[in-house]
Parts: sequence; structure tokens; C-alpha cells
Amino acid sequence: MPLGKELFLYAEILSSFRGKAVLITGGMGFIGSNLARTLLANGANVTLLDSLIPQYGGNLFNIADIRSQVELNVCDVRDPFAMEFFLKGKDHLFNLAGQTSHIDSMIDPKTDLEINATAQLSILESCRKFNPSIKVVFASTRQIYGKPDYLPVDEQHPLRPVDVNGINKLAGEWFHLLYNNVYGLRACALRLTNTYGPCMRVRDARQTFLGIWVRLLLEGKPITVFGDGLQLRDFNYVDDCVSAMLLAGASDLANGKVYNLGSEEVISLNALAELLVSEVPGGNYEHIAFPKDRKAIDIGDYYGDFSLINKDLGWRPKIGLREGLKRTLQYYSANRQHYWS
Ligand SMILES: NC(=O)c1ccc[n+]([C@@H]2O[C@H](COP(=O)([O-])OP(=O)(O)OC[C@H]3O[C@@H](n4cnc5c(N)ncnc54)[C@H](O)[C@@H]3O)[C@@H](O)[C@H]2O)c1
Repeated sequence: MPLGKELFLYAEILSSFRGKAVLITGGMGFIGSNLARTLLANGANVTLLDSLIPQYGGNLFNIADIRSQVELNVCDVRDPFAMEFFLKGKDHLFNLAGQTSHIDSMIDPKTDLEINATAQLSILESCRKFNPSIKVVFASTRQIYGKPDYLPVDEQHPLRPVDVNGINKLAGEWFHLLYNNVYGLRACALRLTNTYGPCMRVRDARQTFLGIWVRLLLEGKPITVFGDGLQLRDFNYVDDCVSAMLLAGASDLANGKVYNLGSEEVISLNALAELLVSEVPGGNYEHIAFPKDRKAIDIGDYYGDFSLINKDLGWRPKIGLREGLKRTLQYYSANRQHYWS
């Protein structure tokens, strides 16, 4: 499709959120806060809900510039009564709250289960009972595929999670599909790939290894690449992830579907490290042995086939890796005091 027409259609999609009541769980986190900003800019009435549990990605600074324009609630998706209250009267739910660390899910599997699976079920029960016309988009993950049998991975690929987090996210995703299929609740899921950009957690590697890479680089320390660094990955800049969520949130064609996100720019971790260090004078990287706990749940090469969402909703990523990394480094150079500790 010509770019002009594509931009026109996307602008129309964005305008469909004007005046709509939107709830974002995990709204003070990385993707949720970026999504909130775009929705506000397009006239939506936005409510953010986030537990702000310190080990997770929520950060008040993520929403400092929009704080006065949103309704803000520090509460936990594991509280069914609070969820019931906040879901009533909403037109849209972007359901992003989650425990995101794969390693933490192995150390404390029950917490991961409670947040990523049990709470998802009770959110959907509240929707069914109190707001059955709400439109729901769930943030799922490519992690649920496990080690790929073939590349690029499409939505038909077997699901064989390699860690507790993957299993619980899979359950969370399927609860959404089930409530769509059985109760007619309009729900869909996006299987996100590695997403990066402003507002991601860089304190540690809990959310993404790219976060800690950015931090190390800006501290003048070498990036550490695990193993031989030949693993292939795809990445989405956060704005592209947000546009996929909005397209899915605006379309009834998405109901009951799962969509991969992804990128045509497939890159090895070595090449990614090269790209990142080339943006910072004096930047360098080194290889270290794969930590045992990470190796045990590593999925090897992964990149996704996103042709289904492209065909159904017209989505494709627009921000190239070099440009996205540049913007990310600029953001953290300017705001490091809000993210380092
Ligand atoms: N960033 C990625 O690369 C990526 C990849 C695949 C899937 N996802 C999914 O996208 C969603 C958003 O991820 P993100 O990258 O923005 O991470 P994030 O950690 O920044 O956002 C998640 C938010 O959920 C909040 N949260 C966690 N537990 C909660 C609870 N019990 N109650 C209320 N809020 C709670 C956290 O405080 C955080 O602000 C997650 O569900 C994640 O699994 C992200």
C-alpha cells in the first residue's frame, strides 16, 4: 500500500479512540506508558493501573509528562474487586500488566502464575460479568513458542514454552481467546517480540537484555554478550509495538486471533552489539560464558513471521534498528537519573 494511504488509514484508526474510556493495566511500565501517551494525544480518556512493584518495570517517571492528563491507580491486578471497579464503563482494555522476567519466574513460579495466569482469568471474569462489550488486547509473547522448529516462526508453530513465564503467559493468552470464543468477549492477543525504546527498564536485565546493554554502554562499561553471540533475534521499537496494539484495539477482525509482531531486520546479538557500540564513542563489548540459569531456558535463534497482522490489520514496523537504538540512547543519556536505581 502506498505510504500516504497507509498513514491516512492509521490516522483514522487513531481518531477512533477519541472520547473512548481506555484502561491500561501495566500502564506505568515501558509499553503501557508509551501507549498511554499516543492514546492521550488522540483524545482518549485514559486510566492507568499499575502495582509499581519495585522489581518490575513500572516507573512514575515514565508518565511524568502526562500525569495530570490520566487517571492514575496504584493497584494490583491480583485484586479482583479493584479490577471489577476499574473495568466497569471502559470501552477498551489494553491488558499489559505482567511479571516479565524469565529467570524470576523460575525462582518464584507461583508469583508468576498468580499475575500472568490467575489474575488474567479473574480480569476476564470481571469483563464477562460487568462489561461484556469491552474490547480487549492482551500483550502475549513470542516466548511461548520455545525453541523454534523453523524460522521465521509463524502463528501455526507448535507452542512449547521453555520456562514458567512462557507457560503462564500462554495460559493468560488462551484465557483471552477462550472468553472470546465462548462468551463473545472481543479479545485478541499480540505475541510481542523483543521490544525496546524509551521507558524500558535498564536497571537490570529483568525486562530485556537490551536495557542493561544500554545502561552499561552509557556508564562506559563493555556490553556483555552471552556465548558466541550468533543467536538471531528480531526487535521492535516501542512505537511500532504501540501501533500494533492500537490497530488490534480498533479492529473487530482481530477478535479471537493471535498475531505475531516481528521485524524484517533479523540480526545476531554480535551484530546488535556492534551496532549499539558504534553509536557511543568509546563503546565496546565482550563475550562471557552463557550463565547456566539462562542457558537452560535459552531458545536459540528466533525471528517471527508477522505476515498475518500485516494482511489483516496492515501493520508493519516502521522504525529501523539503528534509528530506534539512536533514539533510545538519546533518551537514557538525558534521563538516566530516573532509571538507574
Ligand atoms: N518488552 C518486551 O520485549 C515484551 C516482549 C513480550 C511480551 N511483553 C509483554 O508486554 C507486557 C508489557 O511489558 P513491558 O515490556 O512494558 O514490561 P513492564 O514491566 O515495563 O510493564 C509491565 C507493567 O506491569 C506492572 N505489573 C506487574 N505486575 C502487576 C500486578 N500484579 N498488578 C498491576 N500491575 C502489575 C509492572 O509494574 C509494570 O509497570 C507484559 O505483559 C509483557 O509480558 C513484553
